[in-house]
Amino acid sequence: MSVEVEPRPARSSVPIESEKRMMVAAGRTSVELGARIASRLGVGLTDAGLRTFSDGEVYCRYAESIRGADIFIVQSTCTNERAGLTVNDALMELAVMVEAAIGASAHRVIAVAPFYGYSRQDKKSAPREPVTARLVAKMLEVAGIDRLLTMDLHAGQIQGFFSKPVDHMTAMPILTQFVRDSLVDDVSNLVIVAPDAGRVKLTRKFAQKIGAPYALLEKERPAQQVAEIGYVIGDVRDKVAVIVDDIINTGGTLAAAAQTVIDEGASRVYAVATHGLFSGDAFQTLAQSPLSGIVVTDTVPPRDGAPDLIRVLTCADMLTDSIRRIFTDDSVSEIFAGENQLF
Ligand code: R5P
Repeated sequence: MSVEVEPRPARSSVPIESEKRMMVAAGRTSVELGARIASRLGVGLTDAGLRTFSDGEVYCRYAESIRGADIFIVQSTCTNERAGLTVNDALMELAVMVEAAIGASAHRVIAVAPFYGYSRQDKKSAPREPVTARLVAKMLEVAGIDRLLTMDLHAGQIQGFFSKPVDHMTAMPILTQFVRDSLVDDVSNLVIVAPDAGRVKLTRKFAQKIGAPYALLEKERPAQQVAEIGYVIGDVRDKVAVIVDDIINTGGTLAAAAQTVIDEGASRVYAVATHGLFSGDAFQTLAQSPLSGIVVTDTVPPRDGAPDLIRVLTCADMLTDSIRRIFTDDSVSEIFAGENQLF
């Protein structure tokens, strides 16, 4: 006698027990930041076996299997003098790490680039110029990223260069809290200052968070990497001014902005920014400026030889929180009450 077996309906998915795995690796530009993030997540930093050959080519081979893991690759695309890497080395290294992770069958590959190099080349400002921020997006997507986690893009619209999701964080909560709690005793005498028209939205939000008025500076760039401030819109007289910017590069913008607000009668002037590149003679320029203090975050590895007036706050907690939420498919914008989409 045969046993009748009912035909089984075809199933579109098969329930299989599995555990999601998270891994964190860091490129050589962001080893310290990557280690801070990994330790907060309670995971070890995965050894990516990075080397530069004598001809300058970069090599990566993960020391352990990453098959099926969500791998977060931390690498700001900026220069790291101590590691002997230029912004272009950092970018290529990130792409190579992504390529290796894809080839090694990672489940998801997430580039964590808190500083997005070339972000200021986000449009054509003159005929025959490249839109290099778009090229970088294409490079990362061709390498194979599933998403990008970044911070305070020079222009939020850069997200539009990606077809993959971009999680755009902001260091504003870190910086506003520092200004409120540690920079000044009394916020009633503060004025928050935008160094150029591009920062007006950020500055207005920053000022609202602190409960202070804001002022704007009219900046011109007569040549590349030269900043000239025309005039101040708003009242800075007898106030403590805090200039808010996204990037400090040569320090020219801040030095000129600080001098302008002092000339207009501010009693003291400070600056806060997310990304402190401090290239070229920036330290000297800023040390000679009227600035009493500068606060940046560690999206960019601090250069050696910084004058005492520069203070670096870590953004590792914020990035860790974001990474945890990306891994568990939870809301990232909740961290900022949705206000990370403002810039
Ligand atoms: C420009 O629009 C940016 O927001 C910064 O103000 C600029 O990148 C700072 O550059 P630098 O320090 O060389 O003046």
